[in-house]
Amino acid sequence: MFSKSTDWYSNPNRLTNLLRQTEQKNIPYLDLTQANPTTAGLHYPEKAILAAFTPAMFHYEPHAFGLHNSRLAVQQYYAAKGISVNPEHIILTTGSSEAYSWLFKLLCDPGQRILAPTPSYPLLDYLTDLEHVRIDPYPLIFDGHWSLDMKTLQENWTSDHKALIIISPHNPTGWMLDESDFLQLLELAESHGTALIIDEVFTDYVHNGFGALHKSALLVNRSLIFTLNGLSKSGGLPQMKAGWMVLSGRPDLLSLALSRLELIADTYLAVSTPVQQALPALIRLAGEVIQPLITERILLNMRFLKETLAGTPISLWPVQAGWYALLQMPAVFEDEEWALRLLEHSHTYVHPGYFFDLPQESMLVVSPLTNPEIFQEGINRILELVNSVLATE
Ligand SMILES: Cc1ncc(COP(=O)(O)O)c(C=O)c1O
Repeated sequence: MFSKSTDWYSNPNRLTNLLRQTEQKNIPYLDLTQANPTTAGLHYPEKAILAAFTPAMFHYEPHAFGLHNSRLAVQQYYAAKGISVNPEHIILTTGSSEAYSWLFKLLCDPGQRILAPTPSYPLLDYLTDLEHVRIDPYPLIFDGHWSLDMKTLQENWTSDHKALIIISPHNPTGWMLDESDFLQLLELAESHGTALIIDEVFTDYVHNGFGALHKSALLVNRSLIFTLNGLSKSGGLPQMKAGWMVLSGRPDLLSLALSRLELIADTYLAVSTPVQQALPALIRLAGEVIQPLITERILLNMRFLKETLAGTPISLWPVQAGWYALLQMPAVFEDEEWALRLLEHSHTYVHPGYFFDLPQESMLVVSPLTNPEIFQEGINRILELVNSVLATE
């Protein structure tokens, strides 16, 4: 009865099974995979957020790309970073996931191919399955720091690829695309007729404070580029379901893309009026209050990780940005085995690296967004388990 594309659950993995059992037995555990900022014990400016919703919401005015004032608010978001974006090239969505879906509808017919980075957050697999699009992965490699394997990408890139996805800052590695790689990608995208999709949802969380936005991508008038972002990460407000994409590139391609996207967006009219109307205030609160709260939390937990793991058998990989940290565990077990043991014996839940297709053995992924008390206790438990395993080796 069901589509093959949605047949994802026939074989739940061992860790998911163990997690289900743990929950069914009501065994308390520490969750170090917390990526939901609203349950991480942060003190949101709740009154100001509520005040962003006004009686203006009772009036419905359908606009495919979103209300003019809301698009101006997105323009302001970029203006505050010194980037001048045309509001007519901004399209509101309910989040970057929806933006991806619309772009796959716009660019690909069923069975067509796109390029996307590996390792990667698993979301893209589902989004592409749902649009009947195939992913050809291109590698990010680690040799002390993460970089793009341009040579392999170039060898595998063909004119059949309808889009190349760049996630920068990248989830979970924190890799960021640099300007010279961007220019090379732009060159290749032009020659292959491939669109570029740049997912910048973590751009406001660069650990050294320097912004990661690809100004040139937003301003360039070559190729066709879609830059995605939204309040889910940028505002720490995933429940608002408010995101956007900005189009840039060759003017003729850009206007064709806009006219087709207008019908796609008009078919859904997805973003709710209250959220659109609240967007200017929410974007302002995000920048002034919420991003600093989240950044402070991440830096606190990252500092704890660095200090606690220094000189231990666990190596913390350098990350430049984002909400994740990568831990290289001793090679006595593979990643899944470490994660299973941690949940079973230490009641601490972490993600094994293979969830993200990390090719290195024995990698674990944790989220420094987690409440610091839980995070610190969980990291100490990981260290204890490692020490006790190594002591019996
Ligand atoms: C890199 C990346 N892009 C997009 C998303 C989805 O974001 P949204 O909530 O805006 O759909 C996520 C979610 O974690 C993500 O990690």
